[in-house]
Amino acid sequence: MRIFREKDYDAMSRRAAVIIAGEITHNPACVLGLATGSTPEGAYKYLVDWHRQKLVSFRNVRSVNLDEYVGLAPDHDQSYRYFMQSNLFDHVDIIPEHTQVPDGLTQDPKAFCDEYDAYIRSLGYVDMQLLGIGRNGHIGFNEPGDCFVKETHVVDLAESTIDANARFFASRDDVPKQAISMGMGAIMGAKKVLLCASGEEKAEAIYNSVCGPITPKCPGSILQLHKNVVLVADEAALCKLIAAGVIA
Ligand code: PGA
Repeated sequence: MRIFREKDYDAMSRRAAVIIAGEITHNPACVLGLATGSTPEGAYKYLVDWHRQKLVSFRNVRSVNLDEYVGLAPDHDQSYRYFMQSNLFDHVDIIPEHTQVPDGLTQDPKAFCDEYDAYIRSLGYVDMQLLGIGRNGHIGFNEPGDCFVKETHVVDLAESTIDANARFFASRDDVPKQAISMGMGAIMGAKKVLLCASGEEKAEAIYNSVCGPITPKCPGSILQLHKNVVLVADEAALCKLIAAGVIA
């Protein structure tokens, strides 16, 4: 695992955006696995800015997103489709039909999840998968549990995830209790993984993912089995790795 130690959130964001832009430059028709949340927001701002300066084009890029809340329509301002439109897709030249976010309103989740996996397989899997990480170590919405789930699936969100995401909703009760998440098969099938983290509240999840036991109790730990992971994190998120002498 290659680790970039960055000073703060902005430096982490810039570094992540440089790596994503580099992927697109190297392979203009790449498949990007995209993430939502506070972590990638800054990187998307850089990419939008560089697109405006004509430094990067998404014209031939395809994207698949990690997850979506069950029950939220695409135009709900907390849906992940809405997040992707407002933070990236509406501001770059990606072809709308080339973007996929799980359908939170599907009436047949099992069939939808199977089709999502089939679509990812049909693309030859993702070239670069961007990941944030939850305080509990989740990646996508693969929550801590007794086993790693391979397929795209419906997840019951952990109470700690609902707590963490309540800040975006009018009240905790408004946070959806379920999501559709890409499974570990698609994540581990990505040719490269770009894991990003910022803030001390992520330090334990990062430490456990990088050097704890590989266990579904910390879903991010599965990344130790992936041969091409780049971790971009600020010093706060890396503080436990720094304290343990794992990185200088
Ligand atoms: P965040 O969420 O980027 O909003 O911290 C990350 C995650 O929960 O995966």
